[in-house]
Amino acid sequence: MKTKTEGVKKLTAVHKPVLVDEVLKNLNIKDNSLYMDCTLGEGGHSKAILDYNSSVRVVGLEQDRDIEAVAKARLAEYDGRFESVSANFLHLKSIAARYGIKEVSGILMDLGISMYHYMNSGKGFSFSKDESLDMRLSNEFDTDAAEIVNHYSESRLVEIFKNYSEEKFARRIAGSIVRARKEQGIHSTKELSRIVASAIPRKFWPPNTHPATRTFQAIRIEVNKELEVLESALPQAVSLLKPGGRLCVITFHSIEDRIVKDYFKTEVPQCICPPQLPMCTCGRPGKVKIITKKPVTADESEIKRNPSSRSAKLRVVERLK
Ligand SMILES: C[S@@+](CC[C@H](N)C(=O)[O-])C[C@H]1O[C@@H](n2cnc3c(N)ncnc32)[C@H](O)[C@@H]1O
Repeated sequence: MKTKTEGVKKLTAVHKPVLVDEVLKNLNIKDNSLYMDCTLGEGGHSKAILDYNSSVRVVGLEQDRDIEAVAKARLAEYDGRFESVSANFLHLKSIAARYGIKEVSGILMDLGISMYHYMNSGKGFSFSKDESLDMRLSNEFDTDAAEIVNHYSESRLVEIFKNYSEEKFARRIAGSIVRARKEQGIHSTKELSRIVASAIPRKFWPPNTHPATRTFQAIRIEVNKELEVLESALPQAVSLLKPGGRLCVITFHSIEDRIVKDYFKTEVPQCICPPQLPMCTCGRPGKVKIITKKPVTADESEIKRNPSSRSAKLRVVERLK
C-alpha cells in the first residue's frame, strides 16, 4: 500500500481541462483585465485564458500545494501575468483583499478534483489504486477519509452516501462498512472498494463505472466540505465581479449543479417596486443576469477526446450594473 505522499512529485500535467472554448467565450474576456481561476489545478484553464488574450492577467487559487506546484512550473513563462495563491476559495474575498484586488472581470470555478489527484496524489481518491484513506486536499479541515469510514456512526454514513452521491444502496453500504471495521478497521482504498462493491447486488452495478464510485465521491465531499465551501464562496465571487463581469462555474454532479443553479436564481432581480418609482426601494434589485438558461455541456467530440467531460455542466452569470 502506498503512503499518503508517494507519487506526488510528478510535474507534468495529466489533466485535460473541460469546456475550454465555452469558458473562454462565456468569460467574455476583455483587454487588460484581471481574471481569477478559483480552481487552478494544473493550470489548464488559466493557460487557455492567458493564451487567448496576451493583455490579461490571471490569479489562480489552489488549495492543494502539490498540484499548485505543477501549475506554477507550467505557467512560469507567463511571469508578470500569472500569480498563484495557495488557498481555499472559501476565503475568496479576504484573499482578494490581501492582494489588493477590489474587483475582477471574470471568475472561474471548475469544481471537484483533477485527474492528477486520481493518478498521482497518493491520497486515496481512486479505488483502482491501493492507497491509504486520506482524501484531504489541504489542511483546511482535519477529518480524513479513514476517520469517516472508521468512526462516523452508521446513520451519519447513510446520510452522507444519500445526500452527497444519491447512492441507492446507502444503507447496505453503511451497514457493511460498520460490520467490516469492527475487526481491525478499514485502512486502504482497496479494502473500502471491496466492501462497497460487495454491499451492492451485482445486477445493480452501474454498467460503465466501478460500484464504489459514488461512495468515494461522497466521502471526498465530506472530507473537503465541498458543498458548504461552494455555498459560501458563490456570493463572495459575485460580490467581487465588476459590472459586466462574468462568473463561470463548472460542476460534475447534480448536487453541486443544483446549488449553483439555485444560488444564481436568488441573485436575479426580483424587484417588486411599482414601475413609476425612480429607483428600487424593495431591497430586491438583484445582482446578476443569468447567461446560460440551460447549462452548457460537452459535445460528442469532446466527450470522445476526454470522457471526464461527459458530466460537466457550465453555468454562467453576469454582474449587473
Ligand atoms: C477539476 S480540477 C481543476 C482543473 C483545472 N481547471 C485545470 O485546467 O487544470 C479542480 C481543482 O480545484 C481544486 N479545488 C477544489 N476545491 C477547491 C477549493 N475549495 N479551493 C481551492 N482549490 C480547490 C482541486 O484541488 C483541483 O486541483
